[in-house]
Amino acid sequence: MEIILQPDATAATFLAARVIAREIRRKPNLVLGLATGRTMEAVYAHLARLHREEGLSFAACRTFNLDEYIGLSPDHPASYRQYMNRHLFSKVNLDPKKTHLPDGAAVDLEAECARYERCIMECGGIDLQLLGIGRAGHIGFNEPMSALRSRTRDKTLTRTTIEQNAAMFGGDANKVPRRAITMGVGTILESKRCLLLATGYEKAGIIAKALEGPITSRVTASALQLHPHCTVIVDNAAAATLEDTDYYRWIFQNEPEWQNF
Ligand code: F6R
Repeated sequence: MEIILQPDATAATFLAARVIAREIRRKPNLVLGLATGRTMEAVYAHLARLHREEGLSFAACRTFNLDEYIGLSPDHPASYRQYMNRHLFSKVNLDPKKTHLPDGAAVDLEAECARYERCIMECGGIDLQLLGIGRAGHIGFNEPMSALRSRTRDKTLTRTTIEQNAAMFGGDANKVPRRAITMGVGTILESKRCLLLATGYEKAGIIAKALEGPITSRVTASALQLHPHCTVIVDNAAAATLEDTDYYRWIFQNEPEWQNF
């Protein structure tokens, strides 16, 4: 795991966008795993700008989102499909047929989860999975006590997550669906590369637990410590309670891979 500290949220989200852009330029038909949430909005804005100003092409990319609320149809304004349309899909040259999200309105959820896993496999697996972290320590919607080998399935959201996401439902936590389909921790860990991004003081406590604490299903993001190629980008606020920041800065300054960034 490499941990990269950036001065603020703008620098952190821009670096994340440039990592994604570099992977797309290296492999134009990249299979890109996507996340939603407030943190990612700036990343998608940077990617849209790189597309407009530098000709970054998504034409051959395939995308898979981590999760979708159960009970919301793809055209519901608070669905993650609509979030992705608003923030990325409508702003770049992605082929809509190559963008995938679980169908939260599926009647047979088990069949839908199995279909999603199959679809990822048929595309050759995810090359780069973008991840945020919830205040409950989740990646995707893998809430505390999710099995670290779990696959795509339906999950009940914690109260913490429901409150965290209420803003997308007009601030009314009662309107937030109680359940979601999410890629499992095991599914995420099979991605060839993971990129975890966290910004702001409200993430500092959970980031310290996930990165420097023990690997535990109570904080599913801690499972990323097992991943052979995981990059974590945090701003100084989200890094506020990490212990080994001098070491992370030293590594970043001396890794040849990062010299061009
Ligand atoms: C959503 C997802 C979640 C979010 C996390 C952080 O697709 O995967 O794990 O990344 O809840 O959300 P924000 O950025 O809103 O704090």
